[in-house]
Amino acid sequence: MVAFLDLVPALILNLTVSTIFPIGSNETSTGGRVIVGPIVNGTLQSEPGFETLINATISSADDWPTIDPDGLHQRPDLRGLVTTDDGEFVEILATGIQTIIPELNQIITGEKELNLPFGTFQSVIPVRFVTGTPKYKNLQDSIFIGSETVKSLGGGAFLAGVRISKVYSAKTNVTL
Ligand SMILES: *[C@@H]1O[C@H](CO)[C@@H](O)[C@H](O)[C@H]1NC(C)=O
Ligand SMILES: *[C@@H]1O[C@H](CO)[C@@H](O)[C@H](O)[C@H]1NC(C)=O
Ligand SMILES: *[C@@H]1O[C@H](CO)[C@@H](O)[C@H](O)[C@H]1NC(C)=O
Repeated sequence: MVAFLDLVPALILNLTVSTIFPIGSNETSTGGRVIVGPIVNGTLQSEPGFETLINATISSADDWPTIDPDGLHQRPDLRGLVTTDDGEFVEILATGIQTIIPELNQIITGEKELNLPFGTFQSVIPVRFVTGTPKYKNLQDSIFIGSETVKSLGGGAFLAGVRISKVYSAKTNVTL
């Protein structure tokens, strides 16, 4: 029995991202290179058995990742509007860190059409929710960690899929 954390499958986020905009070179004030991934549409759905049922679409969303000057990692920065099928609104925010592999660049530049399995590159994405709606408040009162992969849609557009787990402390008999 270990006193570390439990990760429980919670949510699936799928986003259609159109061709990215590169914001210049790696001379930005953040020290990296910023790209914008315009999110055309998306869905957010709970995994069967997860304590909060949600079936929602994503709009008004973009990801503004920063790419480190050495080109080895990117740091997502996503904000979007979640609209549930019962008409409630939730803000979604995601950050994190992802390794950059050549295949990822080939997908976002449209150079190759690829479909990468989860875990092909390291992707660890804390996801947060903000809402005052009682029905979905548990999302705001939880810590979530996701992992992303991508699939080409042609012409530099791609589908980004994020499998999101809720983090729980493990119940143990371990004392200090
Ligand atoms: C970042 O800047 C350095 C120095 O100008 C350059 O050598 C490197 O190729 C640039 N990297 C990217 C990804 O633009
Ligand atoms: C999302 O946008 C893409 C590209 O425009 C489109 O092909 C797809 O059907 C849209 N999906 C939904 C669920 O609206
Ligand atoms: C999710 O919502 C869509 C409408 O936005 C609906 O068509 C679909 O049946 C819903 N799925 C579930 C599992 O409730």
